[in-house]
Amino acid sequence: MKTLFFTCLLVVSTWATAQPFASADATAGKALVDKHCINCHTENFGGDGSGIYTREYRKVKTSKGLVAQIRNCNTMLGLKWFEDEELNVASYLNKTYYKFTE
Ligand code: HEC
Repeated sequence: MKTLFFTCLLVVSTWATAQPFASADATAGKALVDKHCINCHTENFGGDGSGIYTREYRKVKTSKGLVAQIRNCNTMLGLKWFEDEELNVASYLNKTYYKFTE
């Protein structure tokens, strides 16, 4: 009985911390966002600019949508990020703001 309990606990806690960009580097992503993305968001949304991710009618609704949005910005701004850099940024924004679990 005890074993079953702990097995369940393990499954639940793994599920609770599941996140879609687990193998990406969120710290590297944060550095990229701080350097390339925040200024303009701050100008448009005030504060530290994070209101753009947490506003009620935000555009990004899924983890796939998040990557698509980052890809658009990357292209639009001509940053030439590689895919792993896009995923690092996605991981950082998801961990910090969006919190999609799949
Ligand atoms: C030149 C200004 C500017 C720059 C630079 C910029 N953004 Fe944005 N971003 C915006 C604006 C304006 C919006 C809101 C667009 C809308 O509401 O239609 C936005 C929206 C977003 C959203 C969607 C927020 C939501 O509603 O869920 C994400 C994610 C995002 N930006 C990521 C980035 C990333 C990553 C970068 C850096 C590569 C970046 N942006 C650089 C202006 C900018």
